[in-house]
Amino acid sequence: MSDWTAYYAATAGGGPRDTLLHGLSLWQGAPGAAVDLGCGTGRDTLELLERGWEVLATDAEAEALVELRQRVPAALGCRLHTRHARFETLVLDRYDLVNASFSLPFCAPAHFPTLWAQITAATRQGGLLCGQLLGTRDSWANRGVTVVDAAELAELLRGWEVLHHREEEEDGHTAVGKPKHWHIHHLVLRRQ
Ligand SMILES: C[S@@+](CC[C@H](N)C(=O)[O-])C[C@H]1O[C@@H](n2cnc3c(N)ncnc32)[C@H](O)[C@@H]1O
Repeated sequence: MSDWTAYYAATAGGGPRDTLLHGLSLWQGAPGAAVDLGCGTGRDTLELLERGWEVLATDAEAEALVELRQRVPAALGCRLHTRHARFETLVLDRYDLVNASFSLPFCAPAHFPTLWAQITAATRQGGLLCGQLLGTRDSWANRGVTVVDAAELAELLRGWEVLHHREEEEDGHTAVGKPKHWHIHHLVLRRQ
């Protein structure tokens, strides 16, 4: 059991994230190499595998990777690679698609600039980044997660073409039903 066990149970039936589906709809080449950062139990990894991608799935929780392995059909397993690693120590290769659904905010704020620079360097020219960042009005902003203000986001987007940016702000709930104010930047970016 980890802090994420209840989240994994609550989201077990979830399909791929809209940001990934949006990115895939814009991808014109053959399926390539992808990394799914903070993959959880693999809702997006599974979609990538089903569409023929080679996927490195990474997460800080071993439990998530075990569940992911269990849900991937044997025929797709040969294109799945998993790595049990935290963002703060992760080493990346080069990818056509970097997916990071609701995961990057959990990188320690002091390390986030390094992680973003690594992601930028790891994404091939023309490659995609799909995922979310949290804004400063998110109610987790004072709980040690990484949030970005408008100027910081603009700086992060240098070197990327913005294919999709939807800013969402609302009172809602977490996946496990706790009240929360959400301030989310949903992003699909193309490396220039
Ligand atoms: C909100 S979940 C998102 C999981 C999945 N991508 C999804 O869309 O449902 C965040 C994931 O990030 C992982 N995570 C949290 N902190 C992390 C860190 N410092 N390094 C790597 N992964 C981390 C958690 O274990 C969890 O699986």
